[in-house]
Amino acid sequence: MTALLHAKGLKKRFGGNEAVKDVSFEVNEGECVVLAGDNGAGKSTVIKMISGVYTPTEGEVYFKNERLTGKTPEAVRTAGIETIYQDLALADNLDPGLNLYLGREKTRRAFGLPILDRVEMRRTAVDVLKGLGIVVPDPTAPVREMSGGQRQAIAIARAIYWQAQLVIMDEPTAALGVPEQREVMALIERLKAKGVGIILISHNLPDIFAAADRIIVLARGVVAGERRPSETSDEEIVRMMMGATL
Ligand SMILES: Nc1ncnc2c1ncn2[C@@H]1O[C@H](COP(=O)(O)OP(=O)(O)OP(=O)(O)O)[C@@H](O)[C@H]1O
Ligand SMILES: [Mg+2]
Repeated sequence: MTALLHAKGLKKRFGGNEAVKDVSFEVNEGECVVLAGDNGAGKSTVIKMISGVYTPTEGEVYFKNERLTGKTPEAVRTAGIETIYQDLALADNLDPGLNLYLGREKTRRAFGLPILDRVEMRRTAVDVLKGLGIVVPDPTAPVREMSGGQRQAIAIARAIYWQAQLVIMDEPTAALGVPEQREVMALIERLKAKGVGIILISHNLPDIFAAADRIIVLARGVVAGERRPSETSDEEIVRMMMGATL
């Protein structure tokens, strides 16, 4: 079986600082791979090389055997990879419907001219969210008036609606309350059940152990180790994060 995603020998240098030195890993369909590591270990830099925000100094990214290296973030999204950054990349002043269609807005024709079909986009957003078990109290309200969990759900709904085959989440629960954290973790399970691959970055050990099929520990820009949750412990993961070789 070939992997859904293959990151090969990724390296990223910022001036004199080698933030990522040598990182390789694979993600299979329906698999959740957690990238764990201390602050500054290189986790966000790795995912930005996958999502197209950074071009790797060295190394390659393959998605469904297609070379992604050097593609723009838009091209990476079109290929089927959605990235949910910590700030969620939602447009705060827009409603959930317009956020769902951000950059791919639906139009209808009125008097021969294309205009935004806000009603249709809103209706679709409500449907998609309902399908995820999320009820947004007022779908006409801008997302800035929504809770962290609801905003997170909209970002995830966007990934599902556009049928992402790989979803990357950088600390999706860091800013959330406990019920919203549970919601996001449940959504991750639903994505996995659909065969979607997940890369999750988290500092939260209970979340890591609950969601991960494999845990990849980064320390100072390299892979310090890789474990399945059933074959490791909190203590071992923390030791690996600290860079101890076992
Ligand atoms: N745009 C940038 N320019 C220069 N240095 C950067 C840049 N982005 C990250 N770095 C450096 O690269 C290293 C890795 O940063 P990165 O953001 O990937 O860490 P991280 O593992 O995501 O940490 P955290 O858990 O704190 O989010 C750090 O030393 C950081 O200062
Ligand atoms: Mg980070």
